Amino acid sequence: MTLSFDGRVAIVTGAGGGLGRTYALELARRGARVVVNDLGGARDGSGSSDTAEQVAEEIRAAGGEAIANGASVTDEAQVEEMVAAARERWGGIHILINNAGILRDKSFAKMDIPDFRTVVDVHLTGSAICTKAVWNGMRDQAYGRILMTASSTGLFGNFGQANYGAAKLGLAGLAKTLHLEGAKYNIHVNTIAPTAATRMTEDLLPEAMLTAFDPALVTPGAIYLVSDDAPSNVILGAGAGVFQACYVTLTPGVALPADDRSVEAVAANWDRIVDRNGEIVPESGAEQAMLILQQLSKG
Ligand code: NAI
Repeated sequence: MTLSFDGRVAIVTGAGGGLGRTYALELARRGARVVVNDLGGARDGSGSSDTAEQVAEEIRAAGGEAIANGASVTDEAQVEEMVAAARERWGGIHILINNAGILRDKSFAKMDIPDFRTVVDVHLTGSAICTKAVWNGMRDQAYGRILMTASSTGLFGNFGQANYGAAKLGLAGLAKTLHLEGAKYNIHVNTIAPTAATRMTEDLLPEAMLTAFDPALVTPGAIYLVSDDAPSNVILGAGAGVFQACYVTLTPGVALPADDRSVEAVAANWDRIVDRNGEIVPESGAEQAMLILQQLSKG
């Protein structure tokens, strides 16, 4: 079975290089019309260039349809213009891959708040701005596929990336609520946590890993998650052709007796509280509250 994107319109942010470029090329190869967005800045977000145009040209040269767009994902007006231009040319937007990102790595002790804000602004707020710009249109047409880009740093932590990690786990959180709000409009929202040799990781990944981690090996996972057949509410780890699912789980925990809900009782029950036997993956925040009530009723 071939997954076709004929008739679909996709926006891929940060698609002037790295992973975003591979997503844009693959979507176009499978028939989608693609907006190749990229500010074309340096890894830390400074400056700009015409990398989006280069990728759009690459798509057109291969017989696909693409327009380049140099909007910063952090600029609401520019993003709205980008979406309006794509709609005017091709009708509705069906797919949004929020992929744009920057790095300002430093240990938290040395990180200043402007560097924290800027990284959160590009990854998290930028993704919210782009999503907001396509959201109502997706609801109206009862079709949408949105992919957020998290990272192992957000999910599990990484030294020197407090700003980046905060933004990246934020994206997984954003996806979870949008999944719930989008479900009845056939909007599927997923998250990818890629590992790939790009300029973002060139000095982080050891030499031997750089070849194995070709960004094109992440692409099948990303493209599946924005296809007609895509699941929703998935966090997919993807790198070097390996695909993994990541879950936020909840242990059954312990209902402390009404007469002893003290700090000491928490300490005494710690092993049972963190015991992963019987842990579940709640489908929403409300489910956790329900489970608390169930625990109480057992006690
Ligand atoms: P990259 O640096 O090649 O790609 C990021 C792109 O986003 C760049 O082309 C950049 O110009 C663009 N960009 C930055 N700020 C922008 C803005 N304000 N507006 C529009 N475009 C902007 O790096 P890579 O690795 O391809 O990263 C893609 C995404 O994957 C990022 O969100 C990154 O955080 C994430 N990621 C990558 C990992 C890896 O192993 N390469 C690991 C985990 C996450």
